[in-house]
Amino acid sequence: MPEQEARDEPGDLVLVEQPARRRGAGGSPLEPPELLDGVALVTLNRPRALNALSFALLLRLAEVVEALDADPACRAIVITGAGTRAFAAGADVAELAGQTAESLASAPAFQGWDRVAAVATPTIAAVRGYALGGGAELALACDMLVAADDATFGQPEINLGIIPGAGGTQRLARAVGKARTMDLVLTGRRVPAAEAERLGLLTRLVPAGETLAAALDLAAAVAAQPQDAVRAAVAAVRAAFEGPLEEGLLVERDLFRALFGTPDQEEGMRAFLERREPRWRTAPSSVPAPDGAS
Ligand code: CAA
Repeated sequence: MPEQEARDEPGDLVLVEQPARRRGAGGSPLEPPELLDGVALVTLNRPRALNALSFALLLRLAEVVEALDADPACRAIVITGAGTRAFAAGADVAELAGQTAESLASAPAFQGWDRVAAVATPTIAAVRGYALGGGAELALACDMLVAADDATFGQPEINLGIIPGAGGTQRLARAVGKARTMDLVLTGRRVPAAEAERLGLLTRLVPAGETLAAALDLAAAVAAQPQDAVRAAVAAVRAAFEGPLEEGLLVERDLFRALFGTPDQEEGMRAFLERREPRWRTAPSSVPAPDGAS
């Protein structure tokens, strides 16, 4: 997908930069610009509302991420929040307050988190400031999480008389375990970045100004890897979170086998034996996904 022409318009709820530009300290693009091949940057853009996830924003986010996923030129997606105060402070409470059980059951926007989690392309959340409620759940729906030392996580829904509704009881429990999830969900307390790291939520904890640069560098490293193997690895690791161990082991074994005979497997092993660097193809081919793997 080409870089969106209108991405700087204030009305854009979600900005897309593809390929993303490498960032320096503070998150500004380097000068002269350096394009990160295969990397897309998606920015939640409601900074005045701390990037609260309105239905319109969630739908747009899902559309954007799915379009990037369908683009062979995109091999890793970084999702971040505009500004420095928040990744996203949750679902939009003003909008949520007017909902009923029935309206929520038929609200397609509520599939936004799962649609992001389901794309085959690896996703990385770059979190500065608040990642609360649905914002924390969006970060958890990503495959990796790079957090600033000023990041704050939490599932404060209990303080609104509700519970997390987009993975905060499920993905969080699988990530940090039952006892810790109960603490966070039942107290609604905020978790500073250093504690989030101790809990095992984070891929990297970095100084605040380096967050976007670190997430984009991580994405660029993933985008430079052999893509059939990347997608197989993503599907296999996700399977560990989605079903019983026996099923996950079968998914892993199927994907492992399916990689044999792919050009990158042949090239990778030949290069090793010839003691040289491998030359990867960049686009993923069609390694069949096992049933149930996303
Ligand atoms: N929804 C809608 N608007 C929000 C919002 C949200 N989740 N979070 C912040 N905002 C808005 C505020 O209303 C405010 O707007 P105005 O300037 O127009 O008044 C603006 O963002 C700045 O927020 P604050 O003035 O509150 O800033 P603060 O620094 O005093 O506090 C905060 C920051 C602690 C994050 C506080 O805004 C807050 O507690 N936000 C709500 C967090 C929350 O409860 N999230 C869970 C939502 S429910 C959910 O997500 C369900 C689910 O599982 C999907």
